[in-house]
Amino acid sequence: MNRTHNNGELRITDVNKIVELKGWVAKKRNLGGLIFIDIRDKFGITQIAVKPDNANYEVANQLKNEYVIQVKGKVIERESKNKDLPTGDIEIDCIELKILNTSIQPPIIIADNTDALEDTRLKYRYLDLRRPCMQKFFITKSKITQAIREYMISQDFLELETPILAKSTPEGARDYLVPSRLYEGEFYALPQSPQIFKQLYMIAGFEKYFQIARCFRDEDLRADRQPEFTQIDVETSFLNAEEIQTIIEGMFKHVFKKILNVDLKTPFRRISYEDSMDTYGSDKPDLRFGMVLFDCANLFNHIEFMAGGAIKGIKVENANSYTRKNLDELTNLAKKYKAKGLAYLRYQNNELSGSIMKFLDEAKQKEIISQLNLKEGDLILITYGKLKIVQISLGALRSFIAKKEGLLDPNRFEFAWIVDWPVFEWSEEDNRWYASTHPFTAPKDECLQYMKTNPEKCYANAYDIVLNGYELGSGSLRIYNQDVQKLMFETLGLTDEDIKNKFGFFTEALKYGTPPHGGIGMGLERITMIMTNTDNIKDVVAFPKTQSARDLMCESPSSVEEKQLIDVHIDVRKS
Ligand code: AMO
Repeated sequence: MNRTHNNGELRITDVNKIVELKGWVAKKRNLGGLIFIDIRDKFGITQIAVKPDNANYEVANQLKNEYVIQVKGKVIERESKNKDLPTGDIEIDCIELKILNTSIQPPIIIADNTDALEDTRLKYRYLDLRRPCMQKFFITKSKITQAIREYMISQDFLELETPILAKSTPEGARDYLVPSRLYEGEFYALPQSPQIFKQLYMIAGFEKYFQIARCFRDEDLRADRQPEFTQIDVETSFLNAEEIQTIIEGMFKHVFKKILNVDLKTPFRRISYEDSMDTYGSDKPDLRFGMVLFDCANLFNHIEFMAGGAIKGIKVENANSYTRKNLDELTNLAKKYKAKGLAYLRYQNNELSGSIMKFLDEAKQKEIISQLNLKEGDLILITYGKLKIVQISLGALRSFIAKKEGLLDPNRFEFAWIVDWPVFEWSEEDNRWYASTHPFTAPKDECLQYMKTNPEKCYANAYDIVLNGYELGSGSLRIYNQDVQKLMFETLGLTDEDIKNKFGFFTEALKYGTPPHGGIGMGLERITMIMTNTDNIKDVVAFPKTQSARDLMCESPSSVEEKQLIDVHIDVRKS
């Protein structure tokens, strides 16, 4: 039998056709003799009817969930139609029924609604992926990938590969290492990104490179991080930052139109890193709602425990329903982000109340109401102390409250470029400067003079693309002058010896006529998460790792045979 239609295809206009279908048994119901079978494939579900006098009745009776079957039958109009199913007007009157394969009882229900625990879903991922809602994620992900490829190729980009068995690249996470069999005690590293190689493609003269590249990072996992993920990796020569951003905007325009039929407005807005932190308390602001941070040091710096640093707040409107418990929850959240504390003021019945009232005389109260333009039901949340902590803790409150208040419309897409990043970040812990992005990011020309003396004054030609509170991608113009690259490495505390060992091949390459170049790397999973409206990266990674970096299906990582260890000169040290 050949398949004539898929299981999501048949409509009332197909009545009387003889059709042949294949798929899985999604459900079997025996209604006092009459057997109904729902047959499912990636496209949908069709109902098969087998009457007691049908020659295939015995076979139908044997069917269990997830058996693979093929059916030949006549399309007939259903007596009781199912409006929720695209094929709900018809059913198939069975002529031939054949079992192609049996199935043991699946450990999870293969339907959109499942009560299976995540661990069970991951252990039997192939069954989990059979659920229609999971199939939708991957069908969309595949379409996104295809649309990206289509656009990049239309813009004359070449799709080029880079090695997986590579050398450590400094993207800020730990490397996954691969021991060498031929060279005792030496290791390859899996790429955290193709950064150095894509720059080498520019030095080699390819001008426009892209790759849908696998990247590997041994870092703490979060709801939007996996150890293994995919970047849309792009690099170009001779273009300035705006020109590169315009190409990427075109890519998103194409992808959103094609997949969601959404027309994005370009150019996306540009916000400097400092402004973003100051206004939204985040370097990846969600711009779908307001609740912006404001400075209120002048109102509260007479209060001893709040004085001496930054004092900023956000205003939550219509917050009369916030209970003491809610406020405790917000305080705990602020403290999680290292805030010293959270002060709050409510405005109800034309009166202020709250945690710091005893420090506010009548005149001060009036000043607060007028300066903050308070309206009935407003709640003011205030943090104080180190500027960065004040910003970040308010940013976290802002996102938390927006989610709780249902302000996050999944059908709105507020893109922005966050530009003008600091080149360096000071680590109190290690007492040294780190590169905010990676050490190949070009400082702005006017900042080069400060590289050695005042690294905090250096800003980069770097840009992140953010969407609805996610960092989708990060890019920059690169250093193409060997002296600047050397200065950069030195500021990061690398000795000549380190530079030679880690990046010798690259600093050598820079000497041979390196063109000005720049690019960007964007997370395919994060783009897919937003476009499919999920906040769990595991929904868009077919075979993901758990939060503790395990693959529950393959049971990896796992031990290997002694001989394999000997081959790669590894002696496992038990800790
Ligand atoms: P960066 O390290 O910012 O830049 O990464 C770029 C984008 O990759 C995605 N991403 C991740 N997605 C899922 N899981 C992870 N663990 C993970 N880590 C990163 C994010 C992020 O914005 N080489 C530079 C790019 C460049 O300068 O061209 C780089 O890798 O969406």
